[in-house]
Amino acid sequence: MSAQPTADRKKTTTHTFRQRKERGEPITMLTAYDYATALAADRAGIDSLLVGDSLGMVVLGYENTLSVTMEDMLHHCKAVARGAKTPLLIGDMPFMSYQVSIEEAKRNAGRFLAEAGMDAVKLEGGREVASITEAIAGVGIPVVGHIGLTPQSIHKLGGYKVQGRTARAARRLVEDALILEDAGCFAIVLEAVPDRVAELISQKLAVPAIGIGAGPGCDGQVLVTHDLLGLFDRFTPKFVKKYADVHADMMRAFEEYKKDVTTHHFPGEEHTYSIPDDEWRALLTELEAEPLVDHA
Ligand code: KIV
Repeated sequence: MSAQPTADRKKTTTHTFRQRKERGEPITMLTAYDYATALAADRAGIDSLLVGDSLGMVVLGYENTLSVTMEDMLHHCKAVARGAKTPLLIGDMPFMSYQVSIEEAKRNAGRFLAEAGMDAVKLEGGREVASITEAIAGVGIPVVGHIGLTPQSIHKLGGYKVQGRTARAARRLVEDALILEDAGCFAIVLEAVPDRVAELISQKLAVPAIGIGAGPGCDGQVLVTHDLLGLFDRFTPKFVKKYADVHADMMRAFEEYKKDVTTHHFPGEEHTYSIPDDEWRALLTELEAEPLVDHA
């Protein structure tokens, strides 16, 4: 069944997130970085869109997310906000936009809402960002936490690896989740966490846990849209389910276009504008009577 038209659906809020968890109704979240994708996700009835700093890799072509700036994020958030009216919109705070000082973190978080049309922000880290989370949430900005594999700490983690695989590391993740909840997060993303650990965290939290590579026991799921669409082919993590192969479709379309142009099959008459016959004849007569001056 297709989703209801956007006009008939209510805006998803942080309150909706909490209700969904209480009712055991899974929350759907995707990343989006542009107007067209945001519009399609909204029309498909996706609950929430994350303008992730994964934008650095899947849209801007960087090796990792560390080079993404506040200006990059705000630019793409604005495009998403123009396309999506119903989903809860979350802007991802980029590397070093919240770590330097609490004042700077609050100012940057505020920009996502005041300038870029976001409803909330997300930041990476556990107990080490608790005071920052508390400060941002304390000025009325809804915050999503993000623990497990946190790509902004890729060098510290030593690569894109599953987190919480030992009893000690798993316990630390559970504690971090509870600390972030206490600090004011209204949802927490769990990335690349073993299924039983993620399920335990989801059960312990009053707020929803949104999993990416964290198994089916979470309160919601998020995927990077470019992975789901098969649009980013540099690598595909184990946890991604590909619902399309847009990269292959795109290449096929580009090759066909090239062939059509080079063999004079495009543009056809149906793609071409015409000038009325009388205007055309008038032009030819005029050019004969008064030839064009050669400017060469
Ligand atoms: O940047 C991003 O897309 C994310 C998701 C992987 C959760 O943080």
